[in-house]
Amino acid sequence: MVKTTSFPYPFIAGILISAADIDERVRRIGEEITRDYEGSDRLLLLGLLRGSVMFITDLMRSIQRPLTMDFMSISSYSGSESSGFIRIDSDHKTNIHGWDVILVDDIVDTGYTIHTVRRLLLDRQPRSLRVCALLDKKERHRVDIPLDYVGFEIPDHFVVGYGLDIDEKGRNLPYIASVDLEKYRTTLS
Ligand code: IMP
Ligand code: MG
Repeated sequence: MVKTTSFPYPFIAGILISAADIDERVRRIGEEITRDYEGSDRLLLLGLLRGSVMFITDLMRSIQRPLTMDFMSISSYSGSESSGFIRIDSDHKTNIHGWDVILVDDIVDTGYTIHTVRRLLLDRQPRSLRVCALLDKKERHRVDIPLDYVGFEIPDHFVVGYGLDIDEKGRNLPYIASVDLEKYRTTLS
């Protein structure tokens, strides 16, 4: 058999962000959060499942503060395009009233997910609420959302890896890779 690619999925077009660059950037964000939350005794990292899992577990190891971790599971009602309607499949367990919450997600696209979850969390009266996203497709935003910590701004390409998926595939890649959508469709069967 001739090996035509070193990628474990046939639809990978190339590496956009290397594992080393992610590692370095996540460390920096961790240092920033460590500085910003000096004196905080109720810091909660609240991740959105499942895309943020790899990011949040790396990030928390770079934060030198006492903290806890919780998760929410969210899904979009729409197909491929975000419609702005999101559904909560599983809520967080922590009572966040009086907590310093950092909402952690893998990627911001239209911004509807963060926009909606943020408003919901604010109703629950945390002491503070900030948003941290590994990736940001800034040019795709359709709502104005405050992003306090951003790993990388990326162009409007569909990406997988480091927790991000396309139909549940690609999460295990240690880097961020761009997807060849044409190839993805033809290799589906
Ligand atoms: P938004 O509500 O449009 O900001 O959508 C954000 C969600 O869409 C993310 O949490 C991801 O689950 C998903 N998403 C958007 N772009 C990508 C991508 O390039 N790769 C993988 N998932 C993505
Ligand atoms: Mg997501």
